[in-house]
Order: sequence, then C-alpha cells, then structure tokens
Amino acid sequence: MNQIEEIRKLKKEKNAVILAHYYVDGEVQAIADYVGDSYYLSKLATTLKEQVIIFCGVSFMGESAKILNPEKIVVMADEHADCPMAHMVDIETIEKIREENPDACVVCYVNSSAEIKAHSDVCVTSSNAVRIVKALPARKIFFIPDNNLGRYVSTQVPEKDFIFHDGFCHVHKSIEKANVLAAKEAHPDALILTHPECTEDVLEISDFIGSTSEIIDYATKSSQNTFIICTEMGIFYELGQKNPDKKFYSVGHRQFCPNMKRITLNKVLSALQTLTPEMTLSEELAAKASLPLNRMLELAK
Ligand code: 13P
Ligand code: SF4
Repeated sequence: MNQIEEIRKLKKEKNAVILAHYYVDGEVQAIADYVGDSYYLSKLATTLKEQVIIFCGVSFMGESAKILNPEKIVVMADEHADCPMAHMVDIETIEKIREENPDACVVCYVNSSAEIKAHSDVCVTSSNAVRIVKALPARKIFFIPDNNLGRYVSTQVPEKDFIFHDGFCHVHKSIEKANVLAAKEAHPDALILTHPECTEDVLEISDFIGSTSEIIDYATKSSQNTFIICTEMGIFYELGQKNPDKKFYSVGHRQFCPNMKRITLNKVLSALQTLTPEMTLSEELAAKASLPLNRMLELAK
C-alpha cells in the first residue's frame, strides 16, 4: 500500500478528517478533506462530525480548532510549525494600552497565540477584519499584532481611531515593491493580487487586496488571464487547480513560509498512526480564548 492509500485507510479507521491551509505543500493539500484560509478553517472546525482533526497548518490554527472544539482530538501534523507573528505582542503591552485607553477595543488578528487571544476582545482574520472592525461599537481600536494588516484596515474604516502594534509577517514583508514592479514590467497585462500582510507600498500598487481564499476567488472569477501573486507560494497549487488555463507569476524566491513547509505527507501519516502530537490547552485558557473567537464568528455571520 502506498503512503496516500495508507493515509486514506487510516482516516476511515480513526474517524479522522484532514484540514489544511493553502500555504502547505500541494501534495498535502491534495490529500486534505478541506483546504482553506484561516477564517474558513476555524468556522469549519465547529461543524465537523469526525472525532479526530489532523491539522496541516501552524500552531495558532490548530489552537483555534481545539478552542472551538474542546471535545475533539486535534492532532498537529507538525507541532513545531509555528507562526512567529503569533508571539509578537505580549500581555503587558495589551494591559498597558488598556490602562491608558479604557475605551479601546483590543482586536486580535487570529495569527496570535491562545494566551494573546485570551487577553483580547475580538479576533479577526484577513478576510473579515474590515467587516468586524466596522461592526464593533468601539471607536478606538488597538489592533494587534500585525502592523500592515492593522494599517490596511484603518484605510478601509477611516471613521475609527487606531493604535497599531509593530508585529509583521516576515514572508509578506519580504515581498518588495521593486520586485512587484519588475514582475509587472515582464507581464504588463497581469493583475497584481496581494495579501494585506504585505507592506503599504505593495498594497498601493495592487489591483486587489484579500485573504488567501479571496485571492483565489478573485482570480477564478476574473476575465483576465494573467496574475502576479503577492502572498505565500503554497497558494499556487489551488490557483492552478481551479484555473488550469490562467497564468500566475510570483515576485521572487522569498514567498516561502518555512513553518508551513514543515508539513509533509510522512508527518500526516505519522499523525494518523499515532494520534500525536495532540494539541492540548488548559480548560481555563481555552475558555478565555474562545470568547474573542466566538465573537468573531458571531460578528462575521
Ligand atoms: P489567511 O487568513 O489569508 O489564510 O492568511 C493566513 C496567514 O497566515 C497569512 O500569512
Ligand atoms: Fe505566519 Fe507569515 Fe507564515 Fe502566515 S505566512 S503563517 S503570517 S509566518
């Protein structure tokens, strides 16, 4: 039996379902039951009937799945796959800003650890941040941790006052305007599709800004045939699957998230065989972190 057949067999035997983010390798996306952006994956996790979730993504995504489904077994395909941005703000900073700005609402990008979520008022993802910030009753927003996403949201919600943090995604930050312009010169008809974690100067020259699934939807529905993609390269797999006749160009070799790329078919197989490493969180932490996540799901409806 080959590796893929064994994964399929074990999935049935263990009543397991495989969830993957668009940034993992194409061969892992291909064996997953569900592939999506962080909002889709957290929403979906609450509707699954299987008892075991094998999570192919970084820690904060597996944590969200566990927080929203405390009764399920969530197994990380790789327990060391972690997003550096998830640890870029600390609790002392949040408490200090709260003290100085008692009217501020702490809006936490979902790319954050469970501890940070537990100290926040509401979570957002890149696909719902604008909608949720608009819907919040508070006028003052402390947006953590991603500076680029926070600033992008503030341009879309000019009626609110923002305090920003200085977190960033090293993958998106390394996508430089000069490289995007060079790609545009090589492919003048191409539309530039960009994730909001990119820097402001890249966002300014983009034709469309959105989450991973929004970028895929936009390219799929577009009558144009050529696109320059400013986000992690794992997205090229689904873009190609949905649009075999369209052309997608990267802007260089640095669109690579080393943590997402830790996940391999071998590790998925091992996770199914051993049901380890399991994602565990204390009941108290999970209960606190579930409040801003559930508020997000409620507001995003
Ligand atoms: P999405 O919410 O668009 O899936 O993005 C997650 C992420 O980690 C971006 O770097
Ligand atoms: Fe984190 Fe950036 Fe990787 Fe997304 S691409 S998981 S934000 S390091």
